[in-house]
Amino acid sequence: MKWIASAAFGMEGMTGRDLKRLGAENVNVLSIGGAEFEGGFDIGMKANLWLRTADHVHLVLAEKKVLRFDDLFEFIKTIPWADYIARDNAFPVRAHCVKSQLMSESDCQKICKKAIADVLESRYHISRLPETGASVQIDVDIRDNLARVSLDASGEPLSKRGYRTWNGEAPLRETLAAALVLTSDWHPWQPLYDPCCGTGTLLIEAAFIALNRAPGLRRAFAMEDWGFVNKDELEAVRRQAQSRYDECYLRKIDIAGSDIDPEAIELAKRHVKQAGLSDRIQLNVADLRDVALTGEPGMLIANPPYGERLGDVRAAHAVARQLGALYKRCRGWGMSVFSADMGFEREFGYYASRRRRFYNGKIECEYHMFAPDSKPVINKYKRGGGK
Ligand SMILES: C[S@@+](CC[C@H](N)C(=O)[O-])C[C@H]1O[C@@H](n2cnc3c(N)ncnc32)[C@H](O)[C@@H]1O
Repeated sequence: MKWIASAAFGMEGMTGRDLKRLGAENVNVLSIGGAEFEGGFDIGMKANLWLRTADHVHLVLAEKKVLRFDDLFEFIKTIPWADYIARDNAFPVRAHCVKSQLMSESDCQKICKKAIADVLESRYHISRLPETGASVQIDVDIRDNLARVSLDASGEPLSKRGYRTWNGEAPLRETLAAALVLTSDWHPWQPLYDPCCGTGTLLIEAAFIALNRAPGLRRAFAMEDWGFVNKDELEAVRRQAQSRYDECYLRKIDIAGSDIDPEAIELAKRHVKQAGLSDRIQLNVADLRDVALTGEPGMLIANPPYGERLGDVRAAHAVARQLGALYKRCRGWGMSVFSADMGFEREFGYYASRRRRFYNGKIECEYHMFAPDSKPVINKYKRGGGK
């Protein structure tokens, strides 16, 4: 079977690598949108449970070039829908059109729905489908005139791990937080510290990685309700993920964070508890200017506030300078900072040893990674800034 794991810009490669590790076959990383792969339902379930950076997993049913609505209607009718949709299943259709001759999503949706209903009504010998049962979400993506029909195997986006039920100030999406941890040079046996931890997303994702916990372990997936799948097979994949976590849960980890805002720390504590990690992550209220790290050096990871208005920009620059001072104080530690402020390094005072672009929603951001011995920015017009 062919599957596709959709992923945001910058995360396709990581998703492809994870798929190979999971045992998926013929993994093909797309230049935009994610990675295709092949495998049975067990692999689809593993992708749902284990992919840290993907948004959705889809089972691809068919693909064909379509230029007119008639082509689309006839193509949809060639798919054996009764193999996937039982007599009483609801089957909502979502269409998405990009750079194609057919660009009206609502019309494509209606045409596909009609074609599927025709196939099912004739197969079940009824004139009206009740759609009272479980829902099977159908996606029709038309890109460059190629229509791809798939079933959404995830349901809720994979970023929803189930631990975050309260939102603070600009929390990171869980998939992006995982990507930042994975891209940094942090190794799970090293200490990790987030001095602007907000609601704790980076810390929780890092703990999941260190403890070999599948990010989707505590949530359900749409494919578990599909009537045409062997439930025992999916349950076995879930049990295997649980036992991997059980084996690693007592592993020693050193993951901690702080934030100046007591409310954010309160939320972070709730999220950590919801994630079942209460005794594994240390959290404190602290201004980052007062953070002092002792012991073995490790990695600082931060997603500081970035300003959109002028006053906020000044405040964000002040935080960038404070982060630079923290980096200078913490000899031997690396630091990775995710920021939308393109002048970040000038304020921080050091040149990043590596940089990566990611989008935080629609905002283009840069991930600046500073090795422990990064070079200071020489700025003759400003005081300070050197190591
Ligand atoms: C963009 S939010 C971080 C969101 C976090 N990554 C999450 O997922 O919830 C930035 C955080 O920096 C904190 N912050 C701002 N100035 C700070 C300072 N001087 N010391 C410590 N934290 C600070 C804010 O309180 C806010 O929670």
